[in-house]
Amino acid sequence: MSPAPRFPDPAPPASPACEVVLALPDPAATEALARRMAPLLRAGDVLLLQGPIGAGKTHFARHLIQQLMARDGQVEDVPSPTFTLVQTYEAGGMEIWHADLYRLTGPAEVEELGLIEAFDSALCLIEWPDRLGPLVPGHGLRLEFGIAGEGRRLRLSGGASWPDRLAGLAGAGP
Ligand SMILES: Nc1ncnc2c1ncn2[C@@H]1O[C@H](COP(=O)(O)OP(=O)(O)OP(=O)(O)O)[C@@H](O)[C@H]1O
Ligand SMILES: [Mg+2]
Repeated sequence: MSPAPRFPDPAPPASPACEVVLALPDPAATEALARRMAPLLRAGDVLLLQGPIGAGKTHFARHLIQQLMARDGQVEDVPSPTFTLVQTYEAGGMEIWHADLYRLTGPAEVEELGLIEAFDSALCLIEWPDRLGPLVPGHGLRLEFGIAGEGRRLRLSGGASWPDRLAGLAGAGP
């Protein structure tokens, strides 16, 4: 008999209401995008940061958090949550959760970390969201980072709450 899976099969993804594809030729382009996205975000938003090891998920999250903190006059290093799984911040009266779920052990740990509540109450930046299986929040914006030569290619896709907010991202420069 084969061993029980750690998670049940995830639900099939709903077809996205919006899709934007961007070229990010160097780390500065990723930083510029994070700066432009920061003012578009609010508590209860979840960004699902996907892509292989080294794709730039932490780089993007770090600059997004630093931008939000800077608006409050705060300066933060924003270390990768590789081992802590979650790091939390506060800016503009909003909680920010930065998670790296690569080492998540199972659904019980999701509960233990308080992630389910945070998906509704905080701005959540989640690396390796596939580790959540069916617990992945349906209202999340997917950011799929891919390697493209020396740079990166990013596909953003999300449901009904995102098209209006992301409308300016494709055209405008940094
Ligand atoms: N647009 C870009 N073009 C080229 N390099 C980039 C770009 N964005 C980020 N990088 C670089 O990619 C490297 C890895 O980034 P990062 O640590 O953020 O990856 P990650 O996706 O979080 O990986 P992990 O899955 O291990 O957490 C960093 O050195 C960063 O400077
Ligand atoms: Mg990372």
